[in-house]
Amino acid sequence: MNRKLGVLIMAAGKGTRMKSAKPKVMQEILDQKIIDCVIHTVAKSQITEPENVAVLVGSGGEQVAEYLSSNYDSRIQILWQSEQLGTGHAVKSAQSWWQNFDDLIVLNGDLPLIKPESLREFFARSQGNDCTVITFVAGDPAAYGRIVRKNNHVSIVEFKEASDSEKQIHEVNGGCYAFKVKALEQVIDLITNNNAKGEYYITDALALMNQKGFVTGAFVMSEEEMKGVNDQFELSQASRILQARILHHWLDEGVHIMDTSSVFISPDAELESDVRIMPNVQIWGKSRIESGAIIGSGSILRNALIGRNVNLIAYAVIENSELKDSAKAGPFVYIRDNTCLERKAFAGKFVELKNSRIGENSKVPHLSYMGDATLGHDVNIGAGSITCNYDGVHKNKTFIGDNCFVGSDTMFVAPAKMSDNSATAAGSVITQEIPEDSLAVARARQKNISGWTARKKIISKS
Ligand code: UD1
Ligand code: CA
Repeated sequence: MNRKLGVLIMAAGKGTRMKSAKPKVMQEILDQKIIDCVIHTVAKSQITEPENVAVLVGSGGEQVAEYLSSNYDSRIQILWQSEQLGTGHAVKSAQSWWQNFDDLIVLNGDLPLIKPESLREFFARSQGNDCTVITFVAGDPAAYGRIVRKNNHVSIVEFKEASDSEKQIHEVNGGCYAFKVKALEQVIDLITNNNAKGEYYITDALALMNQKGFVTGAFVMSEEEMKGVNDQFELSQASRILQARILHHWLDEGVHIMDTSSVFISPDAELESDVRIMPNVQIWGKSRIESGAIIGSGSILRNALIGRNVNLIAYAVIENSELKDSAKAGPFVYIRDNTCLERKAFAGKFVELKNSRIGENSKVPHLSYMGDATLGHDVNIGAGSITCNYDGVHKNKTFIGDNCFVGSDTMFVAPAKMSDNSATAAGSVITQEIPEDSLAVARARQKNISGWTARKKIISKS
């Protein structure tokens, strides 16, 4: 028989200890939110289909719901807990959703470090029980719920309810539970809020199950994976742990990272062996970097495609753009919005490229802005040349053909077209189409006025 598994991610709590206007699960960890980590872990574990995953929101729930619906396909269910009366109440609020499943995993939303393979193993091992809880042995058990093991039964005593001797227990509740839905239905309404916090605790479900003769168990995992995020300090620690795992993975794959303490790589980035990453580099989003590329210090990449042997000399900011094999950029370059540098193209010092294509072997070496421009191959753009692509209303395009030589400080008033094998004189303001094989001169002629400085006594001759 095929049993159906639902996964309920609890994310309705305020996260008071974060001292932030944002709900806890919306806090950033690397370039994601805490909730993304949890959703990705569930997805990668492949324990169930996306449509069987629900996120329970409440406090700041509009923000979370809006984020989820714009970043995930609508198959992820969003459920609401109108008042936050505790984790037991949270699970109860979602009953009309989970009662259609055979198995239910309930997962605290503040656990960004669980590995997919661990979640998978936990679920596999939970099969014989009516409730299995993930536990870990904490160096400092702090305010975690304590795990009490008696006569083959497992129960959880919340810190505030624990006796002095129970407080000595180091095995604690990680905040992830696998239930048989039939068993959970029997106890969910028996949970009360007669306790120190006046809250409904989902953790009481275990003792109630034990009383009814259901089977409870525990699955011990590492502290590193199960440490919850409750305040900014724990968030920064979690971010470090996640980062160390990602860097370790790429080091194992043959990526060279000179200084692991100053490099950040997004969980969704992909790198090949023999990529060299210098200190102080950030690689975010779905960036992809091919073998032999050098990512120089101070570079920040977001959704960047970097081909083989590309050299980002230093301080290159590249967003949603591509540099093909052996292209070169930097130092101090900003390349954005669907720009493409073809093979061996170069963008140098203080250059901004937006929504432009720089043809093979073409160079934009200094102090230029190319926006909405298409450059052919073997073009040279003189220092200080720009496209005037915006007329105050529209963005207009500039086309520059193959083998063109653009003199320094040329202004292309777009829409502009320069045909193959042409040149512009330095300082030209281009307002008309330039035909093939021509020189465009569009500047005032120079006139020299003899004796002028002496008459004005500007320059005194000694
Ligand atoms: C909880 C457990 C504790 C365990 C710890 C592990 C309870 C009563 N205690 O404590 O045994 O050691 O997690 O990290 O469950 N939430 C809701 N609605 C609510 C209250 C909470 O959705 O009304 C969500 C929160 O958003 C959070 C999760 O449930 O994602 C856990 O809540 P939190 O307040 O962090 O519980 P802890 O005090 O950490
Ligand atoms: Ca918590």
